[in-house]
Amino acid sequence: MVNHKLWGGRFEASLEGWVEEFGASIGFDYRLAPYDLQGSLAHVKMLGQTGIIAPEEAAAIQAGLEKLLARYESGELEFDVRNEDIHMNMEALLTEEIGPVAGKLHTARSRNDQVATDMHLYLKDQLGQIAYKLLNLRQVLLDLAEEHVETIMPGYTHLQHAQPISFAHHLLAYYQMFSRDSQRLAFNLEHTDLSPLGAAALAGTTFPIDRELTADLLGFKGIYHNSLDAVSDRDFILEFLSNSSILIMHLSRLCEELINWCSYEYGFVSLSDTFSTGSSIMPQKKNPDMAELIRGKSGRVYGHLFSLLTVMKSLPLAYNKDLQEDKEGMFDTVDTIQKSLDIMAGMLSSMTVNKEKMLVSTQQDFSNATELADYLAKKGLPFREAHEIVGKLVLECSKAGYYLQDIPLSRYQEVSSLIGEDIYQALESQTAVQKRNSLGGTGFAQIRQELERAKKQLKKG
Ligand code: ARG
Repeated sequence: MVNHKLWGGRFEASLEGWVEEFGASIGFDYRLAPYDLQGSLAHVKMLGQTGIIAPEEAAAIQAGLEKLLARYESGELEFDVRNEDIHMNMEALLTEEIGPVAGKLHTARSRNDQVATDMHLYLKDQLGQIAYKLLNLRQVLLDLAEEHVETIMPGYTHLQHAQPISFAHHLLAYYQMFSRDSQRLAFNLEHTDLSPLGAAALAGTTFPIDRELTADLLGFKGIYHNSLDAVSDRDFILEFLSNSSILIMHLSRLCEELINWCSYEYGFVSLSDTFSTGSSIMPQKKNPDMAELIRGKSGRVYGHLFSLLTVMKSLPLAYNKDLQEDKEGMFDTVDTIQKSLDIMAGMLSSMTVNKEKMLVSTQQDFSNATELADYLAKKGLPFREAHEIVGKLVLECSKAGYYLQDIPLSRYQEVSSLIGEDIYQALESQTAVQKRNSLGGTGFAQIRQELERAKKQLKKG
């Protein structure tokens, strides 16, 4: 039996269909199609310019590739699993298009540097789109924060009311997380913006290729300096998966908060109908499904990171077929992150904030206890003693069923002569927040300053 594969020369028998299918990647790497064509176009231009192939051969191949690109763009290209992957499918299609001269395209190139090039081009593109969506989300957070500088909410530790804070301050904490995500992705881009093309199978080539030319044509900032590394490095994907894991962890934390906040118990926000779903049995339900789903999807992104780390951990240099497993997780992560960022931005910009409910919940608790202790400490009492006194008053109030602001002045003065009428003003949540003006604190002036800083930062990208 003759083997008709592009690599079939040294084979006497063909793969059986089911084995062929197991080895094939076209079922998912078809997504690399436009990048594969782009890579081939650069390669053939270089082959022509360096005289490795004749100018008319290069021109014929270039015209064929451009035709394939046009056919791809109009959705006409059909791939065949018997051609294993995107690279061999493209070569087969090119051969149909221009005949045997197509066979010259693969001069001084291997699928190993080809696939690496495709992956770099693909991820570079996607990183750009993700960076843009992340910027949009950060803008949404800033806009929302700007509206809510003076919206008071309980700040929590251990999920217990701790001290009142500004809602803007809470939002800006997420803004900070997402800014770090942007920085990580920008660094990720530096490692992605390198050309492996010209490393060939593993060792370079004897043809007088011009790697800098292909890198330039493809818009890469630099090249890999070691051919073994060029074909077997997947750090740029690992960095992407790891940065995405951190990013979706941030999204997931924010989702968890939204889910809490829109519950009956909190009632701090109400998500718009566009981002909520109903129940098939309970007519009253409005569920924060999309937030739950983003929270849930963090699992698959972490999974993809662990999967690729495991694939890579024992790979000897250079290319091994194991590396084909780098794709599905990356594609899925790209999709998941892009959609999650859009959904989050949409949920935040369309939700209704119940300011009153937030404020009231800081007035029916003991989150102003620190205010009372600080009040005493400012009047000279050692903070530890102040803490003790306030702790006892909190206990007294909880037993009696009222709050610190309900204690009559006469009782306060029995406890400490340092306490005067001005204590009631100090105990108000509004005062407590407004006065926390230490650098990076929740005080209104601090937040306004931080908003200005963030706006400038965002303009820079
Ligand atoms: N489909 C392969 C992959 O994704 C392309 C490279 C194949 N190279 C090889 N020597 N078999 O990794």
